[in-house]
Order: sequence, then C-alpha cells, then structure tokens
Amino acid sequence: MSVSHHSWAEPYKIKVVEPIRMTTKEERVAAIKEAGYNSFLLRADDVYIDLLTDSGTSAMSDHQWAGMMVGDEAYAGSRSFYNLVSAVEDVYGYEELIPTHQGRGAEHILSQILIKDGDYVPGNMYFTTTRFHQEHAGGRFVDVIVDEAHDPASLHPFKGNIDLDKLRKLIDEVGADKIPYISVETNVNMAGGQPLSMANLKATAEMCHQNGILVMLDATRALENAWFIKQREAGYMEKSVAEIVREICSYSDGATVSSKKDNLVNIGGFLALRDPELAKAARAMLVAFEGLHTYGGMSGRDMEALARGIREMVETDDHVHARVGQVEYLGDALIKAGVPIIRPVGGHGIFIDAKAILPHIPHDQFPAQALTAALYLASGVRGMERGVVSAGRDKVTGDHHYPKLELVRLAIPRRVYTQAHMDVTAEAVIGVLEHPEDVTGLRFTYEPESLRFFQARFEPVS
Ligand code: F0G
Repeated sequence: MSVSHHSWAEPYKIKVVEPIRMTTKEERVAAIKEAGYNSFLLRADDVYIDLLTDSGTSAMSDHQWAGMMVGDEAYAGSRSFYNLVSAVEDVYGYEELIPTHQGRGAEHILSQILIKDGDYVPGNMYFTTTRFHQEHAGGRFVDVIVDEAHDPASLHPFKGNIDLDKLRKLIDEVGADKIPYISVETNVNMAGGQPLSMANLKATAEMCHQNGILVMLDATRALENAWFIKQREAGYMEKSVAEIVREICSYSDGATVSSKKDNLVNIGGFLALRDPELAKAARAMLVAFEGLHTYGGMSGRDMEALARGIREMVETDDHVHARVGQVEYLGDALIKAGVPIIRPVGGHGIFIDAKAILPHIPHDQFPAQALTAALYLASGVRGMERGVVSAGRDKVTGDHHYPKLELVRLAIPRRVYTQAHMDVTAEAVIGVLEHPEDVTGLRFTYEPESLRFFQARFEPVS
C-alpha cells in the first residue's frame, strides 16, 4: 500500500538511554494478580516492553529538552505561551488557543460550552474520555463511522470515514438544532488508528455547515492521518504532511488535541477555535477548571517543549514516515505469522483481534482483557484492552456495550523503542497464540461506574 520510494530509517540518533529490566515468570504471576488482571494497574517497573499507550510516552528531542530550560514560568503572559500560540497557528491554522493540562481537559471545556441537555453529538466511533464528557454535559453520542470500521478484516483504506448517509439520517431524525457539532476524530484510535480521507472530511464539513452544525476535530493524531492521506489519496503524494495537516484543519471550526501523542511531549493539550466569542466562553471555563488563560494546565517549560514538538513533527516528512513505518514493521511480522490483527495496519499501534483468537471465552468474560493479561504473563510486554471493558455500560439500559471490535492494543511510543524491540514483541505475541486454550475468561471483582477500564479489577473464571 505504501508508495514511498525509499526505505525508512529513524531521522535521529540516540543521545540518552534508559535501562529496562526483564522480569521472571514468578514475578509476573505475582504482579498481574496484584494488579487485578488489569494492565493499567501494573507497576511500570514490572514491565519489559511497555506498549500500554503512545500517550505521553514519546522521547523528546534535545531541542525540546533545551526548551524546558528556557521555558518562561510567568503566571501571566508567559513568553512560552505566545510561542505555543504561534506554533498552533502556523501548523494547525487556528487563531484562538486555549491551553489545557491534556486532551480531556479540552474535551471537558468544549463539551460544556456547546452541548445542552438532550443534544446529540455524532462522531466517527467513540473515544472513551471524549464520549464521557459529551454525556457528562447532557449529550448523546451517535456513531456515524462507516461500517467497514467495525470489521477487523476489511481492507478499506479510510476506515475512519464518516458515513454520510448515517449523518444525514441523524439530522433528519433529530433536527440540526439538536446537533451542536460533529466530533471528527483523525486517525480513529478505537478503530485501530485508521484515517479518514480528505474528500470525506470535506463532504462531511459541507453537509454540517449547510445545516448550521459546527465541525470539531479531535486532531490528536492528525499528523498520522495526514501521512495516510499522502500515501493513499489521489492528489496528495507530492504534498508535505505539513500542508496536509493544515488542509485537514481548514475544514473545521476548531479542535481538541491531546498533545501527548503527535506533538511529542509527555503532558499537555489544547482546545483551538476560530470563533472569538466561543473562545471567550472557553476561557471563562478555563480559569475555573484548568488555570489562567495563558497557561491553562501547563507549566511554562511544558508549553515551550510543546511549541517545539508541534513544529518538529512536521519539519520533514521523515519523522512520521519512520513512526508509522515502525508500526507497520511490527504489523507485517504479525501478519506473516498469521496473527489476526486489524488491517490495514494503523498509525499508532497494532490491534489484535482477541475474539478470533479466543473463541472459547464468552464476550462477557472479556476476551481482550484476558489476552492482555496472558501476553504480559508470558513476556512482560504490556498492552491494553480495547473492547467490552473499555466500552462500558449503556447509560439507559445498564447493559454492557458490546463493541464489534474486541481488541488488544499494542501502542507504540514515538522514538522510544528499536526494531529489535518490535521483533521481541512479535515473538511474544506469536508465543501466546501457540496455546490459546490456556487463556481463561475474567470476571469483575471491582467495577468503577465510569471509565471503568482504568481502575477495574478482575479474577480468572475457574
Ligand atoms: N482523544 C483521543 C483520540 C485519544 O486517543 C486520547 C487519549 C484523548 C482524546 C484524551 O487525551 O489522555 O491527553 O486526556 N488517548 C490515550 C490512549 C489515553 O492511550 O489512547 P488525554
């Protein structure tokens, strides 16, 4: 599928290293039990290769670290804030910047200023915290992603696309005045890091704007989406990812961003808007929930590193080429070994189809949670459940949401691991698949009411 003409290598060399430690089987048996079979509750010291998330786990560059030293910690009017404003404006094209401590801080504010009780918020699949804040503000999330997104085997090149018929139907059914905005996620996380096309985004924006509905991006992984557009969509091969990111944002009225991903920092995020009046409402929320409008939830040094990370990610196409290339390298190794994973391989990680591997575990015994624990036990590799546990319960009926995708995610941190780590990871996954019948289902011993996957505890069903 790739149309690149040369092979990739990391466009950097390594200046600092951090030792990691392999644990014994006995240590891992004790650790996973103590963690209630939830990989979120493991201590990082008990993990060998940590693929829990690509969030806040990037390695910063020497230029970003130097920025930490010259960050301006002024409470009001920090120079680093203005550097961040200009980086966001240059790279994403938004003029109004509301800095937050991370992505969910921005989602909180956006949801509170736009959603009224009883409103509907369509989106291309859900993200956990995004949907939480939409519902918390009184809204109802409606999935309008294309059907192919729910099919692990579909090779559709743009599984993140909005299904325009579903969107039209929702508008007809509930009325545009009940839909404050559409939430469009770039490189859809829960679908497996799958992009939407520029043509689809453009058509979606046209339909929404004709109906007075705002278009709000979750631009957290817009860079990775831009790379796939460059590879797969006619007319974009000669464009730089910098140009493509700008064009993606041009169709929207604003965006929430978790800067812990594309933006190459360990903490931070922002809400960006075009409408100064909306920005005023957002800043009123900001000072109550995050901090003054010139730092939000970040220190000056965080803002400085972020401003530099934003520019760095699009400075050349080589960075994202190597980033996605490494994910594809792991994906190809698994595909070659016959491991059922979401295809095409996504931008930020590998998503293993747990239902296909563990048909003997009923859906309400959490196959992906069980497989995540089994992989850790066998190898010390830490992944994350993205299935029924993450999906939570229906607010109205109280039943589990049963997503079609029951997945173990191996998210790859940016600029952190080597190709040899990917080889070892592939061997670990293939090892577990030799005896899938040894993996047993799980049941809750503690189930939090919302965002349950973070802190839930389980025990094996005997
Ligand atoms: N939107 C998307 C698409 C995300 O993937 C995340 C976080 C957020 C919003 C929330 O941002 O964590 O900075 O508050 N995803 C992480 C993950 C947690 O592991 O996928 P945050």
